[in-house]
Amino acid sequence: MNSIVIAITGASAMQLGERSIQVLLENNKNVNLILSKGAYEVAKSERNINIPVEPKAQTIFWRDKLEVKSGQLTCYRWNDHSASIASGSHKTKGMVIVPCSMGTLGRIASGFSLDLIERCADVHLKENRPLIISPRESPLNLIHIENIKRLANAGALIVPPIPAWYTNPETIEDMIDFIVVRLFDSLGEDLTNVRRWDGPNK
Ligand SMILES: Cc1cc2nc3c(=O)[nH]c(=O)nc-3n(C[C@H](O)[C@H](O)[C@H](O)COP(=O)(O)O)c2cc1C
Repeated sequence: MNSIVIAITGASAMQLGERSIQVLLENNKNVNLILSKGAYEVAKSERNINIPVEPKAQTIFWRDKLEVKSGQLTCYRWNDHSASIASGSHKTKGMVIVPCSMGTLGRIASGFSLDLIERCADVHLKENRPLIISPRESPLNLIHIENIKRLANAGALIVPPIPAWYTNPETIEDMIDFIVVRLFDSLGEDLTNVRRWDGPNK
C-alpha cells in the first residue's frame, strides 16, 4: 500500500495537520508523519500539548489523542535522513505539508534540504510526484510570494488554508474540515468520514 507523507511544520493552524492524520487513518490510509523542529514549539504554545519526539512514543501519542485504531501510522524524527521516505526509491502517493511555515517553504524553494521534510519535498518534486503545500502566514512579503511562485513553477500545488464562507460554517471544526477536504481532493483522495460541502441547502 503506497503511503502518503504528511508534514506538519511550525506555522499556526496545527489543527489542520492533526485532523489530516485523523481523517487519513480513519480512511485506512498508510501515513508517514514528520513534524519539523518548529512544529513541536507551536504545538506547545498554540495547542498546549507536548508531543513526544521519539517515533514509537509519538505514534502511541497520536493514536490516543486522535482516538483512531485503523490505518497505518509511522512517525519520523525531523532529522532522520536515513528514513526510507528520504529516497526516491520509496514509492509514495504524494506529500502534503500542512501547515507550511515560511521557513520550510523558503528552504524547499531554494533546494536547501536540511531536515527530513525538506528532503522529502525535494524527492517528490524530482520524482514528479504530487507535492501539496499549504502555506500559512499573513501578510506575505515579496520573498514569500516569490518562493511560492518558484515552488508552483517546480510542480508543487499551493493550497492555502483559506476557509470558504459560502459553506456557512458554524464551528471551527466545519472550517477545518472544509480545508482538509480541499487538500486531499488535490491529492486525488476521496475521503469519507469528513464533512464535505456539496452545494447550498435547498
Ligand atoms: C505560536 C507560533 C506560531 C507561528 N506561526 C507561524 C506562521 O503562521 N507562519 C510561519 O511562517 N511561521 C510561524 N511561526 C514561526 C516559525 O515557527 C519559525 O519560523 C520556525 O523556525 C519554523 O520552523 P520550521 O519551518 O522548521 O517548522 C510561529 C511560531 C510560533 C511559536
